[in-house]
Amino acid sequence: MPALEARSVSKTYSIDSRAMTVLDTISLSVEVGEFLVIKGESGSGKSTLLSILSGLDRPDTGRVLLGDRDITDLTEDDLAPVRNAVFGFVFQSFHLIPSLTAVENVMFPAELAGDPHARDKAERLLERVGLTGRAHSFPHQLSGGEKQRCAICRALINEPRILFADEPTGNLDAANGRAVLALLQELHRERRTTLILVTHSQEIAQSADRVVTLRDGRFVANSGHVS
Ligand SMILES: Nc1ncnc2c1ncn2[C@@H]1O[C@H](COP(=O)(O)OP(=O)(O)O)[C@@H](O)[C@H]1O
Ligand SMILES: [Mg+2]
Repeated sequence: MPALEARSVSKTYSIDSRAMTVLDTISLSVEVGEFLVIKGESGSGKSTLLSILSGLDRPDTGRVLLGDRDITDLTEDDLAPVRNAVFGFVFQSFHLIPSLTAVENVMFPAELAGDPHARDKAERLLERVGLTGRAHSFPHQLSGGEKQRCAICRALINEPRILFADEPTGNLDAANGRAVLALLQELHRERRTTLILVTHSQEIAQSADRVVTLRDGRFVANSGHVS
């Protein structure tokens, strides 16, 4: 059974009272443990697709299945705990909470889930990414690379089955970007977490199990398995 599936998903936005189809009957099946890269030009619908796959947004038509569970019509109250337990998110702009320290940011999803070991786990994750010395720093005191490593720890603390990363290196310089991508790959290999990554990096696309490319709301035909 796939980890996650989109079946004939469409999404249309209305801009200046003109309808714009961003996703046009997209179907995608992601295997357990797969490392999938989604490519496509800016505006091609990559973030919209990620939001729909992860239940942050809803399709106009089509279904989204998490394993054998259809999550398309779940209410926000039912979906939020599923997202927190099953999905991890890494965003281009980090999305750290400014008033919390690094370790508190990392702990946050585990505390939401009622995990009594939240702090221990957060400290271990920060150690793993070389941020022990920054645990009590606030986001504004961290460099971009440090912020993203912290955000990755936060995404991992509940041991998600599926990790989404939307252009996680978009705000980083080349060296930090490479380090963050290497870390994501390493974590994927170690934990067999399903990894769905939006990136422009050709280098990282080469090590993915599969690369799909979005254009005009559809997948480009030659998208497919590269290994
Ligand atoms: N909430 C929204 N309202 C209206 N248009 C949107 C909204 N979100 C995205 N769009 C439009 O949909 C298109 C795809 O956006 P997006 O999924 O962010 O693309 P990408 O991540 O590939 O750059 C863009 O043209 C964008 O302007
Ligand atoms: Mg985007």
